[in-house]
Amino acid sequence: MILDYEQYSVKLIWGEKMTYKTLGNAEERIPAIGLGTWTIGGTETPDYSRDMEMVDIIAAAIEMGYTLIDTAEYYAAGHTEELIGEAIKPIDRSKLFITSKVWPDNLSRKRLHQALKRTLKRLGTDYLDLYLIHWPNEQIPLAESLGAMSESVDAGYVKYIGVSNFDLPLLEKAVAISKHPIVCNQVLYNVEDRQPRRSLLPFCLRNDVTLVAYSPVRRNIVSDRARRVLSSVAKTHGCSIYQVMLAWLIAQENVVTIPKSTDLGHLKDNLASADISLSGAELYQIDSSL
Ligand SMILES: NC(=O)c1ccc[n+]([C@@H]2O[C@H](COP(=O)([O-])OP(=O)(O)OC[C@H]3O[C@@H](n4cnc5c(N)ncnc54)[C@H](OP(=O)(O)O)[C@@H]3O)[C@@H](O)[C@H]2O)c1
Repeated sequence: MILDYEQYSVKLIWGEKMTYKTLGNAEERIPAIGLGTWTIGGTETPDYSRDMEMVDIIAAAIEMGYTLIDTAEYYAAGHTEELIGEAIKPIDRSKLFITSKVWPDNLSRKRLHQALKRTLKRLGTDYLDLYLIHWPNEQIPLAESLGAMSESVDAGYVKYIGVSNFDLPLLEKAVAISKHPIVCNQVLYNVEDRQPRRSLLPFCLRNDVTLVAYSPVRRNIVSDRARRVLSSVAKTHGCSIYQVMLAWLIAQENVVTIPKSTDLGHLKDNLASADISLSGAELYQIDSSL
């Protein structure tokens, strides 16, 4: 893809506290920065030891302005969804945009419907805004899984459907066969992991598929080289390198991101990244030197 750095400023819609982008080809606007929740409440298994603290942090994040929450049935074996459910109890559901993901073991029609029911119960909601296939599963026909996802839309349990960790051929197939539009592909994308740039992002741009970037601050593992480049840009803006990493992502058309944090300061900084406007020269500097 040839990037035109002068045209690199995106059509953003500014909300009160957040920058929004259009979701896929839908009429929906979603925040450019949402809340990731992997490791909140455990990893592969639940960790109940900090439940109250985690519920308070999720609630504080929402209060701060995070309205898009990304989770999955896999996270802490469902416990992350339970903690989110607890945190959102007092909140007007219509103000939130909740994404969850179905694990590859549950991609048959029957199991997907059962998995979705459990997810809704844990979250204490009667619908998801967005439901994603977490990872592909070659053992189960994609048409069957997407068929079940579309049935969930038709039944009103899900507003939009999408995929995650789909490579280009698989995404092309999903887009071609899905009854309801595939509005997003959630993939690993950050300043150092830029594989989606080659062909996935251009396809997404052409086909109105939002690219949701996960691990946007690289789980805090940033190479010395990247640190040097990002620090010089950060200095100009009086912000952290992590904020530059997020600003770099959302400066790109069709890209939104979902950093995870349970640190109130980091949460605030991450949200504020939406206000950092990197110049074409800065974007070029990052792109060309990393
Ligand atoms: N679809 C998939 O297969 C998939 C895979 C991975 C992730 N995801 C989703 O994407 C979300 C984000 O990805 P991720 O959790 O892998 O990685 P990430 O958001 O890049 O990194 C999270 C880590 O970075 C730290 N951090 C966050 N903001 C920071 C800041 N401003 N300054 C310093 N450190 C900061 C956090 O620590 P503190 O908590 O201390 O701030 C945490 O340790 C996940 O939580 C999950 O919802 C999806």
